[in-house]
Amino acid sequence: MVGVLLLVPPGGAVRGVGSRPDGLDAVETGSVAELRALQAERLRWAVGYAYGNVAHYRDAFDGAGVRPEDVREPGDLVRLPFTTKADLRANHPFGMFAVPRSRLVRVHASSGTTGTPTVVGYTRGDLEMWGDVMARSIRAAGGRAGDLVHNAYGYGLFTGGLGAHYGAEKLGCTVVPASGGMTQRQVRLIADLRPDIIMATPSYTLALVDEMERQGIDPRSTSLRAGIFGAEPWTGAMRAEVERRLDLHAVDIYGLSEVIGPGVAVECVETKDGLHVWEDHFYPEIIDPLTGEALPDGEEGELVLTSLTKEAMPVIRYRTGDLTRLLPGTARPMRRIERITGRTDDMIILRGVNLFPTQIEELILPLPELSPHFQCVLGRTGSLDSLTVRVERRAAATAEGAAQAGTLLKRRVKDTIGVSVGVDVVAPGAVERSAGKVRRVVDDRPGR
Ligand code: DLL
Repeated sequence: MVGVLLLVPPGGAVRGVGSRPDGLDAVETGSVAELRALQAERLRWAVGYAYGNVAHYRDAFDGAGVRPEDVREPGDLVRLPFTTKADLRANHPFGMFAVPRSRLVRVHASSGTTGTPTVVGYTRGDLEMWGDVMARSIRAAGGRAGDLVHNAYGYGLFTGGLGAHYGAEKLGCTVVPASGGMTQRQVRLIADLRPDIIMATPSYTLALVDEMERQGIDPRSTSLRAGIFGAEPWTGAMRAEVERRLDLHAVDIYGLSEVIGPGVAVECVETKDGLHVWEDHFYPEIIDPLTGEALPDGEEGELVLTSLTKEAMPVIRYRTGDLTRLLPGTARPMRRIERITGRTDDMIILRGVNLFPTQIEELILPLPELSPHFQCVLGRTGSLDSLTVRVERRAAATAEGAAQAGTLLKRRVKDTIGVSVGVDVVAPGAVERSAGKVRRVVDDRPGR
């Protein structure tokens, strides 16, 4: 049992928010070489720790004929098998944990709309690390100690609310734990408390903006300076929309419960050029989703993450299902991921053409008569699958103008994506709203 001797991840000294006078962590301004050395050291620990303390990893590594000592540096990761959501389900609820249940300080769970919920857990050390990476993320997005943060991510089993909450507190902010929902009241809170930062899903942010307008409040007049938006795919066009309507900086944040929650990667407000992965804690790889082959930086594929410092539920080569590519660091030494195009399981295959709801979003938003509230509805005509884009017209648009925009959208989808879809332009408010993650794909095919 290697793990018993190695209960704490190495490199503790580089932890701690704002260890430098400029408020950044030392590792955020260090060299890439230092980062690589730290990663190699932590990776050796993480692999030995997972092998020594989680039967699943022991069996999986043994099955692949790899011993923990064979993994000396990140390049060796390719020798290890992937971990998938199915592995987490098979070991539900506590089988993937490296510590006794009594050492868990908290659990969260994914919504589990498609089967068994996935339970994840945290030791006290994990919560410290999560707080650190979230504080770092909020700082990178433009937040500062003393700021007021309106946190509209849902509180509860979802990692968004509490993850953002403790990160903001750790940075030294004042947190308003608004959670999702009760939109009217949230608008009132924003007007009265005058927050500097808002944290929410992009789709819920639009619901808040609509509600402000309904109440006769000019969304551009609020005190908000920056928004930290994530938990669902969104496009550059949506960023432009949110920035224009709210007059703030809109920054993308990424994460997933299995790896920690929000705070795996974030954009820096000064560059807004993709999300820096906090690589000192989460090691990213990109693979071909079909063959599993590791791809070089720059190529698009599925993001795979390995936790380097997690104690309760280490993950080794976890397949996120999220499609993106890795780019070199800019504002920070850590590599960036490009904005996520979508999840492998959100991909619509229509008459042989692959498409993501984000591609539809990009085509809708330049049309001024159409709103960003839309859904992709799958149906079946005879033996053929069909796709109808249900999109709301903007309140200011006439029904006739919106219908023309709908025709234009249909043509643009055909021209750019190469597939014929139906477009159904509906009245403002007719598309379902969500206080959390938006549901972009509705499968109305018979038998689904
Ligand atoms: O959504 C954690 C989170 C909360 C991230 C708040 C950001 C802000 P899960 O519920 O486990 O965790 O869902 C994770 O959501 O695999 C992606 O498919 C998607 N996702 C998360 N952030 C982004 C993003 C949280 N910025 C799943 N862009 C992930 C696109 C995202 N998709």
